[in-house]
Parts: sequence; structure tokens; C-alpha cells
Amino acid sequence: MRQKVSVIGAGNVGATTAQRLAEMDLVDIALVDVVEGLAEGKALDLREAAPVVGYDSSVVGSTDMAITEGSRVVVVTSGLARKPGMSRDDLISANAKIVGPVVEEVVRHSPDAVLVMVTNPLDVMTELAIRVSGLDRRRVIGMAGVLDTARFRSFLASELAVSVRSVEAYVLGGHGDTMVPLRGVTSVAGVPVGRLIPEGRLEEIVQRTRDGGAEVVKLLKTGSAYYAPAAAVAQMVDAILRDRGLVLPCAIRLDGEYGLSGVVMGVPVKLGAGGVQEVLEVELTQSERAELERSAAAVREVTAVLG
Ligand code: NAI
Ligand code: 2OP
Repeated sequence: MRQKVSVIGAGNVGATTAQRLAEMDLVDIALVDVVEGLAEGKALDLREAAPVVGYDSSVVGSTDMAITEGSRVVVVTSGLARKPGMSRDDLISANAKIVGPVVEEVVRHSPDAVLVMVTNPLDVMTELAIRVSGLDRRRVIGMAGVLDTARFRSFLASELAVSVRSVEAYVLGGHGDTMVPLRGVTSVAGVPVGRLIPEGRLEEIVQRTRDGGAEVVKLLKTGSAYYAPAAAVAQMVDAILRDRGLVLPCAIRLDGEYGLSGVVMGVPVKLGAGGVQEVLEVELTQSERAELERSAAAVREVTAVLG
């Protein structure tokens, strides 16, 4: 029997994540949603795609959390998506009521799992999951930095007409308006981006990255991004299950790193078996450090709503 990964919430991000995981042909997948028939129907559809795509992953769906029993990784996407004009922080109270009980159930069925949190506001929901689960912070990881960094890299690659693979970048901080794209370590084949793009234009790209989620929301009109978010989650799950030691920007509760404690923020971490194996401290410029501290203050402010 293969290892199991569960995805809670069979909406846009959850179902697309399940599809990506199935196509990796690495694990069996359990998909759960409160809406009767939704997870079951999407799981059936994914099983029927298997002969065409060529994967042997089993995909099951249910409203019953019991199907998640014994998962190695559980991805939590259950909750509301941001609507146009709604900030991530507006979502806090509604999603806390969904995520708290979900995490309790998840841990009851899979006490050894690593949790990958997706529901917004991401940093706050990750903090909530740490509190509710009682798990070590290294096993409760928020997905946002991989997505924000992917957006930054994709915009830079289009600007410079180079492959996305040639652009190195990191976006740290909270998953919100105060996220911190690191200009200092952003480069194309080792050439610092500041030498390739004029300062004013680079600032516009940084701002577009900060507004990346909202830009998609505005175009879609209902719902928010899910292809890039699901791809980001799948990369994190793959790194954990294959014990890759892959360094990715992920949200973790800081414990003295970057001079910050007790706040969940995106920083580069080494992801492998068991979750976060190490938090890496990259060198920040003075202004990047100030931006990271501002971002931490913003995350603390919204997290305070949890009490
Ligand atoms: P969606 O509305 O398509 O799906 C959410 C699903 O959660 C729905 O099917 C709903 O029935 C289900 N759900 C609600 N309560 C549940 C419960 N108690 N147990 C199981 N399932 C439950 O939304 P989408 O687009 O999939 O987004 C999900 C969440 O992820 C939102 O909060 C969104 O803002 C967030 N998100 C976060 C990103 C990040 O970078 N961290 C990126 C994209 C989305
Ligand atoms: C995003 O950044 C909605 O947080 C989500 O697309």
C-alpha cells in the first residue's frame, strides 16, 4: 500500500491539489469536503482519468474524516475563498470556525501527519492549527511563500524574456500586502536583478507580486487563484514525502530566527521527512529587514484576533 496524503476541502485548490498529487503517481489520496457528494464525485472523476494519464494512485472522497486515517501529510484547504474587495483578513473569523474543528479531527485520525495549511488568512490559520493540534511547529507549515515567489519569478521571467527556471528569487514575510520580495538575492543566472531591470520598473514588479492574489480575484470575479496555489502545495508535499531537503519559502512559527518569535511568517526552510528540518537565515539588506519587521507586526495584529 502507498503512503496516504489527505486533502481537506474539495473546492478549487483542494481538487486541483488532488489532481496534481495523483498525477505524481506517488501516493494514495483521500479528499474530504462537507458538501455531500462533492469530494466523492471529484475523487471518482480523478480515478476515471487515471487510465488515460497513467497513474495508479487511488483517490477516494467522502464527507467523513475517517478516510484520512493514517495520512503522512494532510493539506488543509477548507474554508472560504476571498471575494473581490474582501481582504484576506476579512476571512479570519469565518475560516477560524472551519479550520479549528477540521484540524482537531485531522490530528485525531493522523497523529503523525505533517500539516500543510492553505486556508486564508494563511499566517493566522497556520498559527491556529499549531495551537489546536498541539504539534511541533516543524510539522505545521503554511503554503504561501512558494506561490508568492512563483508569481515574482514568473513576472521577472516575462520582463526579461528568459525561462522561469533561470530566475532565482525569494518572497518572505506574511501572505498579504506586506510580503517581502528579496531584491538582494533575486538574480538571473547569478546576475543580480537590480543590474537587469531599472529600479522603478523593479518596484512595479514587486508591487504586482504583492497584488498577485488580488489580480486573479479581480479577473475571475468569483473565487481566487488555484492552479498556482495547487502547484505550490504539490511541490511542498513532494519535498516532504521524498525527503528532498528542498529549500522553499514556507510559513512557520518563528522561534528567534530573524530576531522574531511567536509569529508565523514565510522564511526559507529545508523541507523533508517530518516537515521543516531547518530554518535558513538569508542575509537581508537593512531595508529588507525593516520590511520583514513591518510584515511581522502586521501578522501579529491580525493573529491577535484569535485571542
Ligand atoms: P473553494 O470555495 O473552492 O473550496 C473550499 C472548500 O472547502 C469548499 O468546497 C467547501 O465546501 C469546503 N469546506 C468548507 N468547510 C469545510 C469543512 N468543515 N470540512 C471540509 N471542507 C469544508 O475555495 P478555494 O479556492 O479552494 O480556496 C480555499 C482556501 O484557500 C480559501 O481560504 C482561500 O483563500 C485559500 N487560498 C490560500 C492560498 C495561499 O496562498 N495560502 C492560495 C489560494 C487559496
Ligand atoms: C492568493 O494569493 C487567494 O491567497 C490567495 O491567490
